[in-house]
Amino acid sequence: MALPSLFSHIPLLIVLYSSLFTCSSSISSPAHAIPKGSSISVDRKNDNLVSPNSLFTAGFYEVGINAYCFSIWLIEPQSQNVNPTVVWMANRDAPVNGKHSKLFLHDNGNLVLHDADQSIVWSTETKSASDSLTLQLEDTGNLVLRQLDGDQNLLWQSFDHPTDTLLPDQVFTKNSELVSSRSTSNFSSGFFKLYFQTNNVLSLLYKNPEITSVYWPKPYSVPWKAKRYTYNNSRIAKLNSQGHFKSSDDFHFFVSDFGMRRHRIMKLDSDGNIRVYSLVDQKEGKKWEVQWQAFSNPCKIHGVCGPNCVCTYSQETGRKCVCVHGYTKKNQTDWTNGCAPKFKPCKQVSEDYVELPFLKFYGFEIRYLENRTLDACKQVCLKDCNCKGFQYKYFTDKGYYSCFLKNVLYNGYQLAFRSSMYIKLPKDLVSSVQQTFVNGSSLSCPENQIMSIQRSYDRKHGNSSLEILLWFGYGIGLLEFVFVLIFFCITLKDSSTTSYFQIASGIKRFTFAELKTATRNFKEEIGKGGSGVVYKGKLSDDRPVGIKMLKEVYIHQGEVEFQAELSTIGRLNHMNLIETLGYCIEGKHRLVVSEYMENGSLATCLNSNKLDWGKKLEIAIGIAKGLAYLHEECLEWVLHCDVKPYNILLDANYCPKVADFGLSKLFDRGSIENPSFSKVRGTRGYMAPEWVFNLPITSKVDVYSYGVVVLEMITGKSPLQLGDGSHGGEQTLVEWVRQKIYEYIRSENGTWIEEIVDGRTSGEYDMRVLINLLKVALQCAQEDKDARPSMSHVVNIILNPRVDDLSNLF
Ligand SMILES: *[C@@H]1O[C@H](CO)[C@@H](O)[C@H](O)[C@H]1NC(C)=O
Ligand SMILES: *[C@@H]1O[C@H](CO)[C@@H](O)[C@H](O)[C@H]1NC(C)=O
Ligand SMILES: *[C@@H]1O[C@H](CO)[C@@H](O)[C@H](O)[C@H]1NC(C)=O
Ligand SMILES: *[C@@H]1O[C@H](CO)[C@@H](O)[C@H](O)[C@H]1NC(C)=O
Ligand SMILES: *[C@@H]1O[C@H](CO)[C@@H](O)[C@H](O)[C@H]1NC(C)=O
Repeated sequence: MALPSLFSHIPLLIVLYSSLFTCSSSISSPAHAIPKGSSISVDRKNDNLVSPNSLFTAGFYEVGINAYCFSIWLIEPQSQNVNPTVVWMANRDAPVNGKHSKLFLHDNGNLVLHDADQSIVWSTETKSASDSLTLQLEDTGNLVLRQLDGDQNLLWQSFDHPTDTLLPDQVFTKNSELVSSRSTSNFSSGFFKLYFQTNNVLSLLYKNPEITSVYWPKPYSVPWKAKRYTYNNSRIAKLNSQGHFKSSDDFHFFVSDFGMRRHRIMKLDSDGNIRVYSLVDQKEGKKWEVQWQAFSNPCKIHGVCGPNCVCTYSQETGRKCVCVHGYTKKNQTDWTNGCAPKFKPCKQVSEDYVELPFLKFYGFEIRYLENRTLDACKQVCLKDCNCKGFQYKYFTDKGYYSCFLKNVLYNGYQLAFRSSMYIKLPKDLVSSVQQTFVNGSSLSCPENQIMSIQRSYDRKHGNSSLEILLWFGYGIGLLEFVFVLIFFCITLKDSSTTSYFQIASGIKRFTFAELKTATRNFKEEIGKGGSGVVYKGKLSDDRPVGIKMLKEVYIHQGEVEFQAELSTIGRLNHMNLIETLGYCIEGKHRLVVSEYMENGSLATCLNSNKLDWGKKLEIAIGIAKGLAYLHEECLEWVLHCDVKPYNILLDANYCPKVADFGLSKLFDRGSIENPSFSKVRGTRGYMAPEWVFNLPITSKVDVYSYGVVVLEMITGKSPLQLGDGSHGGEQTLVEWVRQKIYEYIRSENGTWIEEIVDGRTSGEYDMRVLINLLKVALQCAQEDKDARPSMSHVVNIILNPRVDDLSNLF
């Protein structure tokens, strides 16, 4: 490659070289540039421009049968059989013919794309009389029109007109926008757009012929709450080559593999999510891996399911759309059209409501009624023909319920907290729901669990935490009740539809016999934890799974509580949380089925010294993200309470997943203040001091345990070996690390970090990153719970290494 890079420094030679190319088409070595008056033709195979580093190619790319777009794509030299990654297109919405089409750099300086019939499909509308004008593809992936004379050297560049992808160091400006593709195979313009709004905020917009709505940053929150600054009108943003994205509205992020030298692209995908991918070496070859994304729950992206639809998501099944009860799918092949009512609206028939708990529909409020009873809301909506239903929500800060009346049911998704949607339907449709339910008892729907939840709710009062749990169980019951009914209606109409219930709750009930077969009579034990033994199993569809047989403690726990807890778990979806696939309750057996993790637990990987520093850092970030999701993003009241290396499992790529929510307890936000835990939970060595001193238990107990786990990864010392400090004399791991740092500050000899870090861990590490991680871990493991950061804050500080002085670690 020495020759081409030489050329790029000597412009004269470029012209020479490329004219050589145009004169003799038999030359096989690729061109980096073409001069004025020459063209790139669809007819000549491999008539392309290639960047001097051979990473990018510009040429005609086939998007359909005999349909071509002039494009730039990225291809790794080692992976020739992989589909190239298209990063730019000139004519995505008007492909040209596969014969006689060409891109022509006219003598007047205009770069024009001609279709077979010579019609102009696309052009740069540039003018130049200079003979030195050339079109060249640069190492960055930028296609530029340059001249050597004149006032302006750069006439045009593809970086100013992105398609759906930003490359590193490509500046996104107030005039740029990214528009998603229609689908993964159809490159024409889709419905999602990234752009700077007039208030200077970098935003994502859904726009189809009927509706337009901004869905990022959070549409219901004001810009400053989303940490966006609206007063800088320079409106520029850029992902740098290190992996740090920064926008002039103060939005910024670091990709998870920040600092690593990898090829990256930032792309607005056809599903409306914006992601940064890195090209990662894997056993099977190079692969694009997501290193950052704007949405972990894709159901919060607007427009995905169309009107009168609910979006459900689980990692296993991905994103799904389901019609609201009383509505039916409009277009069998395209969900964006949503569902149409099975009834005629506004026909003066008597109407009633179906409650859909834990559901939210975003936007389209026609009225907002504050501090109203449910009946009052129902009355107002009944009187208004335009009202399709209302969101009924409790405001903790205000202490009352309010309702949002809606004329369109759009952007429906499942929520983790209490907010119900009431759908207005003709009475016969509402009562048909109940009829089916009563009459459905002979079928194999799990309807008896709903009855038992209601019974126990009526029976028990007094114990507040139990009541909350039951309330929650009751909510789940209702949710399932409605879902089962909808499922029932769907299956009655269309037996090919998959179970709504399974999609909705995400988990399946197994019989004990099924699990016995799956594990070949509980033959292969793969783990043993506080809550039970885990066996390897294989489901009937050949999927490997981990099956945990829970200890007897859980048998005393009623069936209702067990199911309520599992329903919560089933709704948790995050790439760093283990996914629960199913459960079994039969007699004294309580089993939980979850995804199988190839690399076992973090504990075993630490013992066998399998992890290098790169993996350790990724694992620390992954665990933090998983816990942050548990604490805040999703359900503010799910605490893990037993974070330790045994409960962190690693998949084939060493991506960590937090497991074992067996000990997690459901909290209502209000009850977090109450020290409602009486029994000490958790594991010696990883347990926060609050447990010992019987102080209120909050999410900060998990933060503490997380800090200890990270210290264990850094030092290679197990807190179990060092002791937990509870018997006096013995030093805890936290104390040991603090003492080392303290000794260093006293003595000022420069080798302290080598004394602390695990010398057996291979791989190079960036000192700043490691010191930052150590600092975060020590902050997490402080005695005073209020001094510990929240988990989402932890994620931020790991990804934003800022190392100042060490004295504030004490
Ligand atoms: C891509 O989608 C657009 C819009 O729906 C459609 O007009 C076009 O025919 C599609 N192209 C291909 C190649 O399927
Ligand atoms: C606006 O943002 C740009 C880019 O981030 C930055 O260089 C500039 O200093 C900012 N201007 C103000 C007034 O904050
Ligand atoms: C359904 O959608 C597809 C793709 O957008 C379209 O080709 C088809 O005509 C639609 N069918 C109906 C009945 O609207
Ligand atoms: C809500 O309404 C009830 C009854 O109408 C009233 O007693 C109560 O004070 C109201 N609460 C607030 C916070 O306005
Ligand atoms: C089914 O529904 C009908 C109408 O409500 C009712 O009369 C009948 O008793 C129900 N059947 C069962 C088995 O509950």
